[in-house]
Amino acid sequence: RLISATKTTQSVSTMATEEENVGNMKRQLAKIFDVSLRATVPEETDVEPLVAACAGKFGDYQCNNAMGLWSKIKGKGSQFKGPPSVGQAIMKNLPPSEIIESCSVAGPGFVNVLISKNWISKSIQKMLIDGIETWSPRLPIKRAVVDFSSPNIAKEMHVGHLRSTIIGDTLARMLEFSNVDVLRRNHVGDWGTQFGMLIEFLFEKFPNWEEVTETAIGDLQTFYKASKQRFDSDPAFKEKAQQAVVLLQGGEAKYRKAWAQICEISRNEFNRVYERLGVQLEEKGESFYNPYIPNVIKELTDKGLVEESQGARVIFIDGINIPLIVVKSDGGFNYASTDLAAIWYRLNEEKAEWIIYVTDIGQQQHFDMVFRACKRAGWLPLEDNKHPKATHVGFGLVLGEDGKRFRTRNTEVVRLVDLLDEAKSRSKAALIEREKAAEWTEAELEQIAEAVGYGAVKYADLKNNRLTNYTFNFDQMLNDKGNTAVYLLYAHARICSIIRKSGKDIEELKKTGTIVLEHEDERVLGLHLLQFSEVVEEACTNLLPNVLCEYLYNLSEIFTKKFYSNCQVVGSPQETSRLLLCEATGTVMRKCFYLLGIVPVYKI
Ligand code: ARG
Repeated sequence: RLISATKTTQSVSTMATEEENVGNMKRQLAKIFDVSLRATVPEETDVEPLVAACAGKFGDYQCNNAMGLWSKIKGKGSQFKGPPSVGQAIMKNLPPSEIIESCSVAGPGFVNVLISKNWISKSIQKMLIDGIETWSPRLPIKRAVVDFSSPNIAKEMHVGHLRSTIIGDTLARMLEFSNVDVLRRNHVGDWGTQFGMLIEFLFEKFPNWEEVTETAIGDLQTFYKASKQRFDSDPAFKEKAQQAVVLLQGGEAKYRKAWAQICEISRNEFNRVYERLGVQLEEKGESFYNPYIPNVIKELTDKGLVEESQGARVIFIDGINIPLIVVKSDGGFNYASTDLAAIWYRLNEEKAEWIIYVTDIGQQQHFDMVFRACKRAGWLPLEDNKHPKATHVGFGLVLGEDGKRFRTRNTEVVRLVDLLDEAKSRSKAALIEREKAAEWTEAELEQIAEAVGYGAVKYADLKNNRLTNYTFNFDQMLNDKGNTAVYLLYAHARICSIIRKSGKDIEELKKTGTIVLEHEDERVLGLHLLQFSEVVEEACTNLLPNVLCEYLYNLSEIFTKKFYSNCQVVGSPQETSRLLLCEATGTVMRKCFYLLGIVPVYKI
């Protein structure tokens, strides 16, 4: 029997195994309710416990099975009189558990659960000793491919690619934390007709191409634009460029070499951005899948999926009026053929159980068609709750102040490196204004400015539901008040300084001290800490980093506005317990930062 913790989490988590999920309160409760449901209605064998966190005064969690159960059993001579009586029975049949302090039935049969304070403090103490990894979720898959960033060679790496890089990296980190083996794939656009004109143009510009260095070429994008202009205006050049594509694809040595050099230059440029952002990726660009395309198309043709249409070979997808072109009318392959080969490779060679694609929502239809073609081919199961599965993670546009697509003052497209430079220099200027910065070394200032600046850019992106457009605004994202990385990083640094100033050895306290949740705000903080695991699981399962951002922001607010405002730490009789709560909050915040790709700071 499968155990699902809540109605809102999707299929992947409903299949999560029951093994060791110690950090996940919702799952633990689901297990207990499962026992009770079986005892209450033994005749219904496929009822999943529906347990969800709730923020009411009657309980911390709620089991919502009574209503659904009632509608199944009523009229079948049931001993129950209605949903509330089913709820009462569910409550009565709960096995004894140290997690639960007390229960009550409310309204139409909700069973409210109050979590035991002792259990909260015990769990937090255990986490402090054994490490936050003991709170990592378990997903029902072993390996995932996350296809993200994926810029195009020579074309610009724009803010859309920045979003893909930031969101994809976070998803990969969250899945890794959830014990999934993640293959981080950079599906670089390194193949296609644009190379013909680019190579031809560069040969013209640099007759001794072999001797040309990276610095001499400088900005590939400028060349790309110039070559495009030539291509559009000069028929003779166009002819030569098309010829170049044929030579390149035919494997002509000189052209191959030039292509490889161009890719190398782009690669170095991309890598500099990844390094600054702390993002790990393995490049398997479009060209990597070329050798697999013919067989894949053959397999799809043999299965009867491929049809002839206006000279091209296409796959029709039910309900979509344009077909998926898999072989162009000139016999060449395209973006879709490459993606079909890539999915084949990822399933068969890499044994991925979940393939995740992070691009703007403009590509939704493309992926929808590719996935549906794979389902028709029997490569993917028809049901969405089965594995292997493929998911497109779409995101909205980045807008400028004017509400239009984000552009900078003088360039048409925003260069990522410029954005990162500006974020850093702005955060540095703001840091210098703080008195404390005078005590720091230059290296410390640089490091903190970088952490704050890049963290601000990432968090501003991740905190929104990815499907919505968001407005890029330095002043807003670098504000130290409100829901920003700056505010959160400062809050974390303040926690570290409380512990430092106490003069206590926190490692020693972890071993000898105990947490006692006396004050109501201590309990609220403790409960929120314990919800970390289920939040990461939800963010992973639904591929929504903003869920984790919201959790982190609430944690910081609860700590600052409730706990730290109302519970004196240093010098109080409860000092040890409260210092441990500070340390636990710091530990969970640091893990959240890590999962969001943000480097924490320890002083401000
Ligand atoms: N290079 C593409 C772009 O810039 C994104 C590739 C996404 N991944 C994929 N497997 N199609 O739009």
